[in-house]
Amino acid sequence: MPSAPMPSADSWWQSAAIYQLYVRSFADGNGDGIGDLAGVRAHLPYLAALGIDAIWFNPWYPSPMADAGYDISDYRSIDPVFGTLAEADALIAEAHAHGIKIIIDVVPNHGSDQHPWFLAALAAGPGSAERSRFWFRPGRGDHGELPPNNWQSIFGGPAWTRVTEADGSPGEWYLHLFAPEQPDFNWASPDVRLEFEDVLRFWFARGVDGIRIDSAALLCKDASLPDVTGAEPPGPAHPYTDRDDVHLIYQSWRAIADSYSASQHGGRMLIGEIWLPDAARLARYVGPGELHTVFNFPYLNCPWDAGALREVIDQTLALSAGAPATWVLSNHDVDRVVSRYGRADTSFDLERRPYFHAFPVDLPLGTRRARAAALLTMALPGSVYIYQGEELGLWEVQDIPDELRQDPIWARTHGADPGRDGCRVPLPWSGMEPPFGFSPFGAAADPWLPQPKDWRDLTVSASSGNPDSMLTLYRDALRIRRSSPELGDGPMTWQPTADGVLAFDRAPHGAGGLRCVANLSAAPVALPANAALLLSSGPLSGGLLPPDTTAWLRLG
Ligand code: NOJ
Ligand code: CA
Repeated sequence: MPSAPMPSADSWWQSAAIYQLYVRSFADGNGDGIGDLAGVRAHLPYLAALGIDAIWFNPWYPSPMADAGYDISDYRSIDPVFGTLAEADALIAEAHAHGIKIIIDVVPNHGSDQHPWFLAALAAGPGSAERSRFWFRPGRGDHGELPPNNWQSIFGGPAWTRVTEADGSPGEWYLHLFAPEQPDFNWASPDVRLEFEDVLRFWFARGVDGIRIDSAALLCKDASLPDVTGAEPPGPAHPYTDRDDVHLIYQSWRAIADSYSASQHGGRMLIGEIWLPDAARLARYVGPGELHTVFNFPYLNCPWDAGALREVIDQTLALSAGAPATWVLSNHDVDRVVSRYGRADTSFDLERRPYFHAFPVDLPLGTRRARAAALLTMALPGSVYIYQGEELGLWEVQDIPDELRQDPIWARTHGADPGRDGCRVPLPWSGMEPPFGFSPFGAAADPWLPQPKDWRDLTVSASSGNPDSMLTLYRDALRIRRSSPELGDGPMTWQPTADGVLAFDRAPHGAGGLRCVANLSAAPVALPANAALLLSSGPLSGGLLPPDTTAWLRLG
């Protein structure tokens, strides 16, 4: 069976359980309805008790928030709505004192239209050095009134916006693969390369342990900016994704990360956000001297089906010969897992969200499967990502009133795509009604997105004492995972099973150890006789493992 290399002292990420913290929706310390660093600091003991090893923060930088902080106007500071740089420094130190590492998001593909460089580019005019840091081009048509090419934005509409020049005349166009407020940087510009290398050093020097690289395959473009046939949104064959020159950038970033790795807090890690379905192309990013890991989106997108999951798991482990595997069930861009698994089609695809939202959701079934998936995921070799609220069993909020929706995808597709607000609703901590302890008592504002009333049963307080809650399952699983040397990175061996069942052993020497059995079939299955049950995602029935249930066993 495929197996990953032995972890070295510097490779904490090979086995880590990493909590994705979406600051805006985690906890609001000052009562303005928006999560902030004070809220995070107050709840670090919650995260320590959950048993995670690291936190990945979504962007916390100054931003006009046209795309919830993915439009950055200053890469070396903290947005005032979240707090201050001094608070971030304190948070990093406090997290380290709890034994928790910090990963931050860096967004190199694009900045904000309010970034000083973009403002300078607008002011400096066509042909200037300032404009060469972005993709400015004259338009087509007799008067430059048509975009330079037919590329579409990933958020809907054209990928080009026309500017007004300083003299008031209609001017050049600039490229934005996402919202118009997110102009793409030109990575052929040495200024851009040097700037981001310095940003990396800035945060590593402050004690940050890892960088999550946003839109990591998109940075380099074909400078001839050719039309695409069919004007499809970005796919692997599109000229603006996955180009060879991007690897040179990550080789230099890796050298920077390594240069900080001997310091007090150990290795510094790079993880890429890359939505490439092609495992071989994905593998290039984790080749020698490049990124340490990439997100495993084929696993996230996979339906709740034993055959399909086994195929993705095997492909992932084959890829991980040079890099540790990662396992991820959800994040801030995709529908929440209990909703996905409660639909007739349990797969997911970012580009077809309206199709998935048309299915009715069976929440009890989805929750049952999400519990089983959590134990399956946490038993696999490598590191695991947990998106905040997944540990509470929160569902996708699909009925947010239109006038309260915030995601630019909603507006740019004219409501055809509901966007990602439904997985970003603020966490419920305590109490019987909104804001469920997300904001302090007497807060001046409501949470920035409305919380469902029914989340009263899923608050951290309600879940904490409840042996059947998702939170109790996550706490138990993370505790066992951390205290069992067989789990995390290392070898795994598939075991023969009935159709629709996944069973594998985690044993360092091929014998003894732990067995994970996930029953995705419609019938109960027997468990091995010579094994003690450590944890199951639901009760056994007459000694059998029921459908949509996973068990962890210690082999005798
Ligand atoms: C990927 C991020 O995950 C997503 O939330 C964001 O909107 C886009 N990149 C644009 O930055
Ligand atoms: Ca706040």
